[in-house]
Amino acid sequence: MGFLVAVLSVSAQASLPDLFPFPNESALLQKVKGPVLRGLAGRAPYFHNGSALTLNDVVKFYNQRFNLGLTNQNQQDLVGFLSSL
Ligand code: HEM
Repeated sequence: MGFLVAVLSVSAQASLPDLFPFPNESALLQKVKGPVLRGLAGRAPYFHNGSALTLNDVVKFYNQRFNLGLTNQNQQDLVGFLSSL
């Protein structure tokens, strides 16, 4: 996930605290293990409960849930990037 956060920091000026906005829980962040994203495009739906049918839905989810302020272009770019893994 570290590299993803780095990518986002550049493309949307989002920082780690933006993506995980719980200042008193920062120790928890180091305990979260994100899923492997390689080959993502070939294994929809996403999240453990399949709640995101497409990568577009995933990006929309993060944008809304964490108020990232991604533009439509940012979102398209991110979906393109995730699709390429
Ligand atoms: C905009 C930033 C992010 C993007 C684009 C992103 C992308 C993704 C994608 C595509 C999945 C689905 C993987 C799958 O179903 O195979 C996922 C799941 C997950 N991500 Fe992220 N991620 C982001 C931020 C984060 C952050 C900051 C954390 C940790 C604090 C995190 C932790 C997780 C976890 C734990 C899951 C599994 C959730 C589940 O299965 O229900 N993600 N992420």
